[in-house]
Amino acid sequence: MAKRASSFVCQSCGAAHTRWQGRCDSCGAWNSIAEEESTGSMPAAQRGGRRGRLVALESLAGVSEDAPRIRIGIDEADRVAGGGLVPGSVLLIGGDPGIGKSTLLIQASASLARQGHRVIYVSGEEASAQVRLRAERLGLAGATVELAAETNVEDIVATLSEGRRPALVVIDSIQTMWTDSVESAPGTVTQVRSSAQILIRFAKRSGACVVLVGHVTKDGQIAGPRVVEHMVDAVLSFEGDGAHHFRILRAQKNRFGPTDEIGVFEMTGLGLREVANPSELFLSNRDRGAPGTAVYAGMEGTRPVLVEIQALVVPTSLGTPRRAVVGWDPSRLSMVLAVLEARCGIKLGGHDVHLNVAGGFRITEPAADLAVAAALVSSLSGSALPTDSVYFGEVSLTGAVRPVAHAAARLKEAAKLGFAGAVAPQPKAVASEAGETPLAVETVTSLGDIVATIAARAPRRAARVTQEG
Ligand code: TYD
Ligand code: MG
Repeated sequence: MAKRASSFVCQSCGAAHTRWQGRCDSCGAWNSIAEEESTGSMPAAQRGGRRGRLVALESLAGVSEDAPRIRIGIDEADRVAGGGLVPGSVLLIGGDPGIGKSTLLIQASASLARQGHRVIYVSGEEASAQVRLRAERLGLAGATVELAAETNVEDIVATLSEGRRPALVVIDSIQTMWTDSVESAPGTVTQVRSSAQILIRFAKRSGACVVLVGHVTKDGQIAGPRVVEHMVDAVLSFEGDGAHHFRILRAQKNRFGPTDEIGVFEMTGLGLREVANPSELFLSNRDRGAPGTAVYAGMEGTRPVLVEIQALVVPTSLGTPRRAVVGWDPSRLSMVLAVLEARCGIKLGGHDVHLNVAGGFRITEPAADLAVAAALVSSLSGSALPTDSVYFGEVSLTGAVRPVAHAAARLKEAAKLGFAGAVAPQPKAVASEAGETPLAVETVTSLGDIVATIAARAPRRAARVTQEG
């Protein structure tokens, strides 16, 4: 009799190890490795012994049936998906438990059902009654979404194959699914992968769009969505934090659309509400006139987003000064601090630096460098920046301020929100971009320019900035 082989699989990234160990070499997660049986996971036909079947090869130039996208009817979600759902595609939506994934998907399901599409919502976590209660609370009880509370994938696929082809199938969540073909416990990497494989095959065969929900867990108790990321067509993440009501849907991978778009929602008592103008939300509670704040005109995909950057620079009582960053890349902060020291003579070695992007937003663009530098210098000098100006520009290691893309769109958004001026580098294409901007643009070429401007506004303290730093 063949010996049962077992392997040790990391539940976070899926890497296999020959023996148990405390930390996964592959992804660095602690205590995430679990023993899994590996026999019987592959049908005999696939293990070999079968002659290959001839497949027809086609030319690239052939005509293929144009599959129109199905619009969900929720603009913020449609844009992130690349203009709607592609029939036969598989989407993975990851996010922390309780962030609102089920709420978003029941709203999307209801919206599609109202347009006359067949939608099936399979919940492996809640009973149908609970899903129905939530839909009732959201005022969606009238929509003809078909519900099922089931976790066996074979049963689910058999059910889905009956009757009219569904336009959308929601599987909430992939970690609760299990298949008869493998022996591991539900929630393990092998089960999650095999179940996802079966559902993906169903989507490709039937032309239904399948959305898989994946919980992101930090302790590695259940397999994370990362283990199926490479198999699906698009990976979206639903982000937000408990302290704020807004949620951001972000595409991390998308075979059928862009990956830099975001969708912004607000969690209300009546479900998720679309936020068409995120800048207004992020700027709603500004501390006008306080030193250390700068408004950054950013871009998220094709959409400009204005956010407030707050900096606090205080003398430190520690041997090693503290650098705390929320919502931005800590290594970029170190870079900006180093450039301020090397090129502008502002030494912050004796100061703690706290940097916060207001509202819990996360900035990924280097174009925020200039706004961060302005906020830091403003906090250090105690001189507030003008409240009606926005800042953007990338700082290079030489201290130069480099132009960034989409300057015109950033300026237009700022003007729309009532800002009167902008501090920015000279745009690359002067003629086309800077055309007729509605704002007074103060162009800066080096970080020194902006330090001098801020220092000039606080004459008494300016001396301090450059002397003791
Ligand atoms: P849920 O969609 O169940 O999260 P997930 O599926 O990602 O685990 O959302 C749960 C949270 O959302 C819960 O804490 C309550 C909140 N919520 C509202 O604030 N308003 C609502 O209308 C609904 C349905 C949920
Ligand atoms: Mg849920």
